[in-house]
Amino acid sequence: MHASIDDSLRRLGTDHVDLYYVHVDDRATPLEETLEALAEIVRAGKARHIGWSNVRTWRMEHIRALCERHGWPAPVALQQQHSYLCPRTGPDMASVVDHEQLDYLRAHDDLSLVAYSPILRGIYDDAAKRRGHWMMERYAGPDAEARLRVLGEVAAELGVTPNQLVLAWLLHQTSPRAIPLIGPRTLDQYEATLPALACAVPEEHLSRLDAAGA
Ligand SMILES: NC(=O)c1ccc[n+]([C@@H]2O[C@H](COP(=O)([O-])OP(=O)(O)OC[C@H]3O[C@@H](n4cnc5c(N)ncnc54)[C@H](OP(=O)(O)O)[C@@H]3O)[C@@H](O)[C@H]2O)c1
Repeated sequence: MHASIDDSLRRLGTDHVDLYYVHVDDRATPLEETLEALAEIVRAGKARHIGWSNVRTWRMEHIRALCERHGWPAPVALQQQHSYLCPRTGPDMASVVDHEQLDYLRAHDDLSLVAYSPILRGIYDDAAKRRGHWMMERYAGPDAEARLRVLGEVAAELGVTPNQLVLAWLLHQTSPRAIPLIGPRTLDQYEATLPALACAVPEEHLSRLDAAGA
């Protein structure tokens, strides 16, 4: 980890990063080792804050408890896959925000949710892209169909695309707040994303979006 941060800082041409993530929760290494190394990195001024990604809720609680016990800096950001569709329950859920994780985040507002793949790789605008897309494996089903239907209706009423509305919906979340981490592949996709920032979604439409599905 020490070598990694030094290499990253050199490649970036900077002396520190604001946020340094553990990309995937590593169950094979004692958490104390990882957290102590991260604390040293923060103490050295190479990272201002730490974050964690692809981690189950019980592990995050354990991480935070260890930080409190040892006086180590606790993660301030939780980077997980999170979008408008609700994931089905299943065994492989360490990376996707579920209801329990949302509940945990509501109770811990010093931990910010950073939502990756917020438009699920762009499946919302395009039914053909959705069909058979690997990203849909965790979501497909009657609940997803209902949410996609309402999303399309509300997007048409507000004059935005479904992808844009999903980003706007995420930006309207208050408990917990969500910071969408977009991944445009082209300049056109980046520009097509920007209207989401200015899209005010009225309360009534938010309620319809929230109520859709299960
Ligand atoms: N922590 C982790 O394990 C993890 C995992 C995944 C991502 N991330 C981070 O999160 C960031 C975003 O994730 P992501 O790339 O999966 O996000 P995303 O925005 O859901 O997916 C990006 C894809 O969506 C499509 N797209 C983007 N903008 C579009 C638009 N305006 N209209 C239509 N399609 C559009 C493109 O697909 P096409 O290429 O098919 O056109 C693009 O490649 C990544 O850059 C990465 O930093 C982290």
